[in-house]
Amino acid sequence: MKIYKLLYLPILSVLVFSCTKKDDVPISLIEEMKVREVGEKYALELLRTLKQNLMKAMNNGGPYNAVEFCSTKAQYLTKLVEQKIDHGVKLKRTSFKYRNPLNKPDKYEAEALKIFEKYYKEYGQLRPYYIQKVREQDGQYYYRYYKPLVVKPLCLICHGDPEKMDPQLYQKIKEKYPEDKAIGYKEGDFRGVVRVSIPVKVINRL
Ligand code: HEC
Repeated sequence: MKIYKLLYLPILSVLVFSCTKKDDVPISLIEEMKVREVGEKYALELLRTLKQNLMKAMNNGGPYNAVEFCSTKAQYLTKLVEQKIDHGVKLKRTSFKYRNPLNKPDKYEAEALKIFEKYYKEYGQLRPYYIQKVREQDGQYYYRYYKPLVVKPLCLICHGDPEKMDPQLYQKIKEKYPEDKAIGYKEGDFRGVVRVSIPVKVINRL
């Protein structure tokens, strides 16, 4: 009888832990639900802030002005949203085809991006999210919530086919980002992700 009970244990843990692909550290369904809720909220907050400011810059002086805005304000606004959220949450936008080298993916982000790409190839649509639990450089464990970004017509003004882009605008982007990779996208493409790193204690408190 005892032996049978022991046999259940691995089966149960496989059931509980197998639902999410997680770097090294397995996470439970409950953790996944909490991380999803918090991560989605903060990812949306960053996207809302960036979009509002982008539209303001576009209205004030067209895309040319908006590139100026993105190149000087995108990183700053990201930090501002982090400070507003507080709790040690860290935000980043990243992509294999990045424009700003500061947005280059680290190894966990690269793993997540590959999972989104694979899913997109197989199912023709974006995987809604992805979660990891990893040890960051500060030695602390964080959950990482990834939200995918899709290319919309608006994005093509600055990330589309260079042949169809405003030449002056393209020139300006090239000047600011000589190594730019974030070009040549089509509507509906997978563009990259918002990454939300959440300290483990923030989730444990919920
Ligand atoms: C007015 C031009 C402009 C428009 C429109 C625009 N972007 Fe960008 N985008 C930029 C610039 C400039 C950067 C680099 C910002 C920085 O220096 O951090 C950037 C960076 C990014 C990044 C960060 C990764 C990287 O490549 O460095 C993502 C993700 C992104 N854009 C997605 C989008 C999406 C999705 C849209 C449409 C909803 C969009 N962009 C619309 C100019 C634009």
